[in-house]
Amino acid sequence: MRMSYQAEYQRSIEQPELFWAEQARTIPWYTSPKTILSQDNDGIYHWFEDGELNTCYMAVDYHVEQGRGEQPAIIYDSPVTGTKNTVTYSELQSQVAAFAGVLKSQGVEKGDRVVVYMPMITEAVVAMLAIARLGAIHSVVFGGFAPHELAVRIEDAQPKLIVTASCGIEVAKVIEYKPLVDNAIELSSYKPQACIVLQRPQAKAVMQEGRDIDWYTAVAGAAPADCVAVKGTDPLYILYTSGTTGKPKGVVRENGGHAVALKYSMTAVYNIQPGDVFWAASDVGWVVGHSYIVYGPLLHGCTTVVYEGKPVRTPDAGAFWRMVDEYKIKALFAAPTAFRAIRKEDPTASELAKYDISSLDTIFMAGERLDPPTYLWTVDKTGKPVVDHWWQTETGWAICANLMGVEPKPAKPGSSTVPTPGFNVQVLDARGQELPPGEQGAIAIKLPLPPSCLATIWGDLERFKSGYLSDFPGYYCSGDGGYKDDDGYVFIMGRTDDVINVAGHRLSTGEMEEILAAHDAVAECSVIGVHDALKGQEPVGLVLLKDGYDIDPDDLQKELVAMVRKEIGPIACFKRAVVVPRLPKTRSGKILRKLLRQIAANQEVAVPSTIDDPASVPEIESIMKAQGLVASD
Ligand code: COA
Ligand code: AMP
Repeated sequence: MRMSYQAEYQRSIEQPELFWAEQARTIPWYTSPKTILSQDNDGIYHWFEDGELNTCYMAVDYHVEQGRGEQPAIIYDSPVTGTKNTVTYSELQSQVAAFAGVLKSQGVEKGDRVVVYMPMITEAVVAMLAIARLGAIHSVVFGGFAPHELAVRIEDAQPKLIVTASCGIEVAKVIEYKPLVDNAIELSSYKPQACIVLQRPQAKAVMQEGRDIDWYTAVAGAAPADCVAVKGTDPLYILYTSGTTGKPKGVVRENGGHAVALKYSMTAVYNIQPGDVFWAASDVGWVVGHSYIVYGPLLHGCTTVVYEGKPVRTPDAGAFWRMVDEYKIKALFAAPTAFRAIRKEDPTASELAKYDISSLDTIFMAGERLDPPTYLWTVDKTGKPVVDHWWQTETGWAICANLMGVEPKPAKPGSSTVPTPGFNVQVLDARGQELPPGEQGAIAIKLPLPPSCLATIWGDLERFKSGYLSDFPGYYCSGDGGYKDDDGYVFIMGRTDDVINVAGHRLSTGEMEEILAAHDAVAECSVIGVHDALKGQEPVGLVLLKDGYDIDPDDLQKELVAMVRKEIGPIACFKRAVVVPRLPKTRSGKILRKLLRQIAANQEVAVPSTIDDPASVPEIESIMKAQGLVASD
């Protein structure tokens, strides 16, 4: 029987242990947890610490045992290579067990880390599941990141192995991965012992004798490996995400809470049943890919989709609708930027008329703010309910959503609706006091966080505490700002820190500043996110030259763009650097980044009393306006 949202939510907040113990019973543990919620010596909460499980078993083998062996587990559709195929749960079990055998033969054991740097192909999912099968920890790195970014992650995670492919394909460009991986290993002081390479027909990777292993040869000779039991609190994966500095944060996800929360979300948030086809049009390198291309749908016995293509240009703006029609997709989940791209190319949605999308119940969007025009266009053209839901790499699932499987509520454009059960979401002022409806503040979540949320930052508990738990004692500070309305609907208005969202990709402006500052000509700089009609935000550098340094601004821009592409990768979309005479600063010399963000967002500018020279504010404002860096109303 369905409960009302209010009843379900209240129970999750008032009796979290009872609520989640009940949810925990819906997944096949080896040993059911007796301890539901606990706190360690550092005061950090954990879920299901004494439960024993294996996430790969739950996502694959269990379904074969339950008679789903012949059901498609993965549909692979790759317009960029002209390939389509389907893998059943039985086939997936064989492939995963065989690849786990390869890893085992290389000495991978419970707790070891393995980095996966792969394009959107079925083998990326196989690799993740195989690592989980052994109780090892995967760290998937998005294929659009440059060698430096990969190297930082290798250095931090210290993986025994790297799993990669010879190339990824970006629309018509073949991007060779192996030279990037070789370069990253060179840059890292920590060296993995081996690199397993999947050779794709589009590019042949040059193998390094003694270190590199061919995927197919290794799998052909592998003895299948069985699942290894782990504790509920053992890590399943580390996923690096952008923080406010150049060093990304390794979000640690524990096995037990992750499996329970994702299983719950498949019905409560997405209203999806086992056997349904669920498509998250993201990439396994992002949290959406981890949770809703791989684990959520598979834990729930659904068919998931691995799509190697874009919403447009592969070949056209009808790609999403073609997929829904061809595979009878029931739920489609993508970033708003994907729909903005479709709308830009096909404003009247003429492509949609060519396809039957009647299988589709709901469209879900997340990853960045869903702007009302995109929301309204999508609802109008598809006639489907569109759910904006807010979440973060740190949580692994939606913090706020319209719960389609509990009690769908009327949507309000611009709002991600209401807190998901388990998340006690509050809006706080700078002193940590709860604000009344309508007032904007910092969005924080009262502890304990529900299952699946990060337990720490890999190897850096202090960073976890200082970055998330110390601003407002007793709360997790989300880094997002916003407000609740009188009906309790939550409106997320944007980050309050140095993180920006470019085409649904989370990036650190602080990291870009570190790169720009390394240029000989640059005395000081600030990188801000500027409104972009397609990608939501794009980074722009405001640069102050060293005294007496003579360089043509266009040349400087070219050099800075090249530096960011080289260090972070093309996905940073860093294309503009503007030379300015000065930047607004405090008397102690700190650049007023928040003020610059407010100018760019066309918000009311709060000039702090500590400002060094108040005249610098109208000056930078007029430069930013003249350069088109201020959002229009
Ligand atoms: N590997 C290598 N390079 C990649 C890459 C990958 N996996 N993904 C993107 N890039 C490169 C692109 O080739 C491009 O390079 P270029 O500057 O040399 O042309 C650059 O990174 C920017 O890519 P992108 O942001 O994808 O821009 P685009 O103009 O090619 O496409 C969209 C625009 C809107 C279609 C695209 O950004 C998109 O599909 N966004 C949805 C994002 C998404 O799903 N996010 C997941 C969060 S839920
Ligand atoms: P990521 O960790 O990459 O998932 O990015 C998380 C960030 O994306 C959040 O902190 C928000 O700033 C933004 N975000 C994600 N979903 C939404 C949403 N539905 N509305 C507004 N912002 C969002």
